[in-house]
Parts: sequence; structure tokens; C-alpha cells
Amino acid sequence: MWAAHTSVGARALPSLQYMTLTPPAPRPAAGPVPPSGVPDLDGRTALVTGAAGGIGRACVLRLAAAGAKVRAADRDAEGLAELAGQAAAGGRPGAVETLTLDLTDLDAAEQAAEGTDILVNNAGLQLVRPIEDFPPEVFATVLRVMLEAPFRLIRGALPHMYGQGWGRIVNISSVHGLRASAYKSAYVSAKHGLEGLSKTAALEGAARGVTSNCISPAYVRTPLVERQIADQAAAHGIEPERVVTEIMLADSAVKRLVEPEEVAELTAYLCSPQASFITGASLSMDGGWTAH
Ligand SMILES: NC(=O)c1ccc[n+]([C@@H]2O[C@H](COP(=O)([O-])OP(=O)(O)OC[C@H]3O[C@@H](n4cnc5c(N)ncnc54)[C@H](O)[C@@H]3O)[C@@H](O)[C@H]2O)c1
Repeated sequence: MWAAHTSVGARALPSLQYMTLTPPAPRPAAGPVPPSGVPDLDGRTALVTGAAGGIGRACVLRLAAAGAKVRAADRDAEGLAELAGQAAAGGRPGAVETLTLDLTDLDAAEQAAEGTDILVNNAGLQLVRPIEDFPPEVFATVLRVMLEAPFRLIRGALPHMYGQGWGRIVNISSVHGLRASAYKSAYVSAKHGLEGLSKTAALEGAARGVTSNCISPAYVRTPLVERQIADQAAAHGIEPERVVTEIMLADSAVKRLVEPEEVAELTAYLCSPQASFITGASLSMDGGWTAH
């Protein structure tokens, strides 16, 4: 209830008297915020899953460039070796350590996350099929890799993060964590679940210096998207060359694919000291798709 009203012209505005009714609750101090610039992650350790792929690889290189020591995990050993070579060629030879890991092994996933300061849940896979043709075992694998594994990775990472009072969890979700598309039942279900997991981790971690956020991009120029074109063409009954313009970019106001480096840049920002108040958020990078 407002205590009183003052009037300005014809409009009645609430007075500020209510502010004196309840004493303010103690708030955690923000701490000093360094000047903005390249996020300085010197001395931090990070784990990135799906590191051999398009977005994961860009995240590994970006976090390493910001000074972090990054553990790059993927089931694709060949892709990881290529990434290690790329990091070395870029002048950060010791900054990237590779770990061949299949995330369907949930115990191994949880163990791999122990002791990390930053966790980027990025690994993912996609199958485009109508629900009546969608193989149940693929549905189960998608949920396991893209929802259960992130839960286990967060579970493995939190004791260390809580112990030091600082941690960053970045979940690479998707516009499909916020909106559905036909023929992507498993992916859409997993990403919607990841959005909920991320918010829950944010609420539990806030008092202990741990933030958790989702980045939700539209279509990014990566192997995952390239592999999807033929499937999308078959599911929608159109020619493959029409898939990008007529299906993938149909809902995006910005008519281009997102670049992996753009996602990596936002990831690095969310890990920076300047982002300590951003938690429980889902940051859209969808060219306006969800503005509809
Ligand atoms: N490309 C896009 O358009 C797009 C858009 C929004 C969100 N995303 C999300 O970004 C993330 C990365 O996608 P990407 O486009 O870089 O795909 P990508 O296919 O290039 O990379 C995915 C990586 O995950 C790894 N992976 C898959 N299953 C695994 C498992 N069981 N264990 C370990 N690693 C496994 C793959 O080996 C691959 O290296 C995914 O979560 C995806 O859903 C992608």
C-alpha cells in the first residue's frame, strides 16, 4: 500500500514515503569492478565440453586468449588434437589441455568437472525427424548428453566453486531453449530443460559467488548446422539450397548465420568480473527471432 500521493499536473504519483516503512535488508557487496576491456582470466581454470566442434573450439581459444588454462573435452580425439595445434600456433601452447571424454558416461563427466573455476556446457547433437519417426534411443541420448551431463558437470564443479566463493557456469543453450521448431523434439526438450537447470544453479549459487547463465543463439555457422541441411530439406520437403534462407533464417530479423566467435565473445564476457551481477539469465543471440 502506498502511504500517500502527490500530484503532478493531472497524474497522481506515489510518494517516496513507503521507503521509510521497511528497513533495507543487508546486501552483498559488489566488490571492486575493474575497468572493462579484454576479460582477464589469468589464473582461472576452465572446462569446455564439445570443444572440438564449432562453438566449443571458439570458446576454448577465446578463454585461453583471456588468460585461462582450459581443459578441452570432447569425444572426438582427432578434433581435439587439431584444436591443440591451433592453440599452439596461436601462441598459447600450454593453455589448452585436451580430454577425450564421451559425455554419455555421466560419472566420468562429473569427475572431469572437479576443480574447475569456469564450466562451459556446450556439447550437443541434433536429429531432425517428425516425432512419429524419431527413434526413442536417440531421444534418450540427446537428453543424456545435453541435459543430464550438464547437471552432472555442474554437480562436479560446484564444490570447488563454492569452496573459493567464485565460479562461472555458461550453458550454451539455443533459441530452441526458448522457442520450439517442428521436427526437433529431443533438441527442443533438452534445451528447454537446460534453461531451467541454469536458472536453478543461478539461484543456488548466488550467495556463494557462482553465476549461471544461458547463451541462446539462432543458427551458428558450424558443422552441426552443415550436417542438418540435408535432414531439414527431407523433413520439410524442399531442396537443400533453400534450407538456410527459407527455414533457418525465416524467423531471424538479421538475415545471416551467427559466427562461433560471436558466441565465444559473449561467453568470455559472462566469465569476466564485470558480469558478476548477470545470473539466471538467458542471453539471446538470435538476430531478433524471439522479438516476434
Ligand atoms: N550451430 C548452431 O546453429 C547452434 C545454435 C544454437 C545452439 N547451438 C548449440 O551449441 C553447441 C555446440 O554446437 P556446434 O554448432 O558447435 O556443434 P558441433 O557439432 O560443431 O560441435 C558439437 C561438439 O559436441 C561433441 N559431442 C557430441 N556428443 C558428444 C558426447 N556424447 N560426448 C562428448 N562430446 C560430444 C561433438 O563431438 C562436437 O565436437 C550445442 O549445444 C548446440 O546445441 C548450436
